[in-house]
Amino acid sequence: MTDAPEADFFSDPEIAQDLPGYLADLRSKCPVHREPHQNVFMVTGYDEALEVFNQQPEAFSSSVAVTGPLPPLPFTPAGDIRAQIEEHRGEMPWTDHLATFDGSEHASHRAIMQALLTHKRLKANEDYVAGLVTRLVDGLIERGSCEVTKDFAHALSTLVIADLLGVPEEDRDDLCKLMGPDPTQLGGDEGFKIGSDPLMFLHDRFLGYLTERLANPRDDMLTDLAQSKFKDGTDPGLEVKARLACFLFGAGQDTSARLVAFSFRALGDRPDIQAKLRSEPHRIPEFIEEVLRTDPPVKTMSRLAVKDAIVGGVTIPAGSVLSVCSGGANRDPRHFPDPDTFNYDRPGVRDHVAFSRGTHACIGAPLARMEVRVALEQFLARTSDIRISEAMHGPAGARRYAYEPTYMLHGLQALHVEWDSA
Ligand code: HEM
Repeated sequence: MTDAPEADFFSDPEIAQDLPGYLADLRSKCPVHREPHQNVFMVTGYDEALEVFNQQPEAFSSSVAVTGPLPPLPFTPAGDIRAQIEEHRGEMPWTDHLATFDGSEHASHRAIMQALLTHKRLKANEDYVAGLVTRLVDGLIERGSCEVTKDFAHALSTLVIADLLGVPEEDRDDLCKLMGPDPTQLGGDEGFKIGSDPLMFLHDRFLGYLTERLANPRDDMLTDLAQSKFKDGTDPGLEVKARLACFLFGAGQDTSARLVAFSFRALGDRPDIQAKLRSEPHRIPEFIEEVLRTDPPVKTMSRLAVKDAIVGGVTIPAGSVLSVCSGGANRDPRHFPDPDTFNYDRPGVRDHVAFSRGTHACIGAPLARMEVRVALEQFLARTSDIRISEAMHGPAGARRYAYEPTYMLHGLQALHVEWDSA
């Protein structure tokens, strides 16, 4: 394992290869530990993570939510930094997107997003997901093996969010190619190149859809968005709405694909669990929660202290960056006994922070849970034995998995599995 104080979490790709070990080591020093390279307070304790979420946005701004300390702040913090953040927001990465908004701006935009994700839309989407999974599995089942991230998870997550939004069928393959199956490599020096709208490459396409929907409304989410208003009755305008659509599309794609791959790994590594889930498919939701706890796809949720604050008894000076490490909080033995054991029977299996908490908690969680559940239900029903490829990953007890070398997302670079058809 990489020695925690020596390694730079934000640029050392080796840390991603043993994340639980690194985070446990940090937590053993202090659940709110200031790492020496970027001076970031690394929050690896469960209660401490909740303390951070409970103090947003009064004490903690989300302006650095996605990229944390990189690039460095475009200003020198002085005292209460609320005004400085507002003055320089446009110079900071991802700040055109909801995840980095604060306060009333965040609440008003989030309300628009939440109103889109109605029960009716999710129900219709579930019917689509069932058909999509059948098609994808039909195309794979006779092969008896696949690389899960490229052959299944990427197409599933992209097509599901495309359908939910109402992206025309004829554009969906194109979007799959545009999003690319390769993992996002945002860590280290790459972080310095990120602008306020890294989803710009999708913008014109979604602006086009929204403009068309205003002229020709349909029964889809893009139409709802094109017609949406803030609660005070004002219209955000199509440019803002296009950014919301791009963010929803991106957020729903990358993360869910990683969850699918980790779920398949857990099945392949535990034939006992696999057999149990085949006879008790109603337990798949708890299984997914335990995958989210042990391998949360969003690695860091970063915040900027707008004023002096306290977390876990540690003083956080105004202007400091904190990174809540979901993988640390989710394996904190004070909350999850025997944290490294995969056990979906554990009490409080949904307590994890994989979807964050509080004002910025993931609004796509019900969709992510549903699409992975439907995928696992069908895959388990149509196979009798899902195995990790020993040729690619080594034998049980000595597996080799390569993780994406980024500090923001936790994902497998590839997962090769084999199966027998049922
Ligand atoms: C396994 C899948 C997913 C995981 C692990 C995940 C995780 C997260 C996390 C951790 C956050 C909050 C980050 C923070 O507090 O700084 C978040 C926010 C968000 N997620 Fe997800 N997400 C997933 C799937 C989805 C899907 C499918 C959608 C879209 C339908 C979605 C849409 C969003 C949006 C819009 C936000 C921003 C919320 C806000 O800032 O108010 N996510 N997600």
